[in-house]
Amino acid sequence: MTEAETAPERPDLIVAANRGPVSYHSDASGEPVVTRGAGGLVTVLSAMLRRHPGVWIAAAASDEEETLAAVAASLRVDLDGETFRVRYVAPEREAYNLFYNIAANPMLWFIQHYLWDLARHPDIRQNELDAWSKGYLPVNRLFGEAILDELGDDGAGRVVIVHDYHLYAVAPVVRAGAPRAFLQQFVHIPWAQSDYWRVLPRGIREQIFRSLLANDVVAFHTQHYVDSFLQGCVDVLDVAIDTHEKAVNVGDRTVWVRAYPVSIDPDVLESAVRSPRVAAAERELLERRREFLLVRVDRLDLSKNILRGFLAFDRFLELHPEFEGRITFLARLQPSREDVEEYVAYREHVLHLAAEINTRHGSADWLPIDLRLEDNFPATLAAYKHYDALMVNAIFDGMNLVAKEGALVNTRDGALILSENTGAFEEIGRFAVSVNPFDIEDQAAAIYRALTMPAAEKAGRAKAIRDVILGNSVEKWVAAQWRDIERKRALEAARE
Ligand code: F6P
Repeated sequence: MTEAETAPERPDLIVAANRGPVSYHSDASGEPVVTRGAGGLVTVLSAMLRRHPGVWIAAAASDEEETLAAVAASLRVDLDGETFRVRYVAPEREAYNLFYNIAANPMLWFIQHYLWDLARHPDIRQNELDAWSKGYLPVNRLFGEAILDELGDDGAGRVVIVHDYHLYAVAPVVRAGAPRAFLQQFVHIPWAQSDYWRVLPRGIREQIFRSLLANDVVAFHTQHYVDSFLQGCVDVLDVAIDTHEKAVNVGDRTVWVRAYPVSIDPDVLESAVRSPRVAAAERELLERRREFLLVRVDRLDLSKNILRGFLAFDRFLELHPEFEGRITFLARLQPSREDVEEYVAYREHVLHLAAEINTRHGSADWLPIDLRLEDNFPATLAAYKHYDALMVNAIFDGMNLVAKEGALVNTRDGALILSENTGAFEEIGRFAVSVNPFDIEDQAAAIYRALTMPAAEKAGRAKAIRDVILGNSVEKWVAAQWRDIERKRALEAARE
């Protein structure tokens, strides 16, 4: 159900993210459909809005959403039985293309995940500079203006939380128009070290750091990224930081830099697992199941290290031919950012490598790598339930919720193979089989170790991981941010 609103109330909380909680689009026959928005952001922002009602501002990403943006100030939308207020901003198509497909991806995403092959890429030319000035900044300004419109006054007593690397330049717009609003930016991806930020032209990197410092709080998933950001403020802007208080002093303002490790919502996940669609997917999976099941679930993204995961499996089969015919590597990969050239080439490479490994090791009766390019959450949940080992070998990753979802849903005390460069590693790495994502031999050995670990050890590790995850649910993530918001407001009020 969607209900248009023309004169919404003033919300206490405004969250802004490129993606919305639902997606309005047309199916193959042209019929309008509304589906849950992709990615982990929906779960965590829904949890926040459940506790602190407000509005979610997102970019219109389809013709249907552009129409909605034109006809209504905001909408009430139903998501899994809950109602959210959503407001769309509708950038010009070309501006959005420059913003999303050049400036945010690949440029910022590749910098923050250390993905550029620096001897060759990137070349920063007029096209990239235009993507910043004619795409990124105008789209950010639109978001800022929509937030100001929702605030309607100087913002006193209200909270604005902006999410992700698409929207680094929103805070100065809001700060200028509503100086008393509490502003927080949540960065869901790694924060690269200063040398890597120097890939960007000086003016752009300085603008990114300066814009982020227009917030009251800049938030990350790990202490490691907090420290990297603080050091970046010194290196890029030469401003004073307080490493003990984890704060940056900007004129008479203090910006807190904090880590709030995001998690999942166990109740939502457990009820999703009980759905008939998951049961159907399980039946299909169990019919094909070999003795061992290795699983990976990722967006088809270069940061996820899919190629080296396959090379490690190839090496594992070479070293342990006794597993031939007895194991399947199920790779569930959701197509992503398909208008970005680097992603198109990567997808081809992934398909090609999987086919090559299947030809080398497989037989008429056995397909070693079962590659599924689709976004099908029930089938993913079925795979989570039945894996013997889950591979999460990301090159770098802000958090990685797959590691947490899988560990919670799995019913076989399956082992978690976890890259030491994921945010999740800070919390659960000590119970996982840790891997260096660049070391193929290490990852091949990790697959063997995960599959041959004594049952008692597997059970102990799986339980320890579940306990950590249940001890830090998404509710705690929300509460920790709110505690700091209230503390900082109180400190500032006392100073006034
Ligand atoms: O991890 C960062 C992030 O922006 C998530 O918030 C989101 O789920 C994911 O990347 C998806 O990216 P995109 O919006 O490009 O599909």
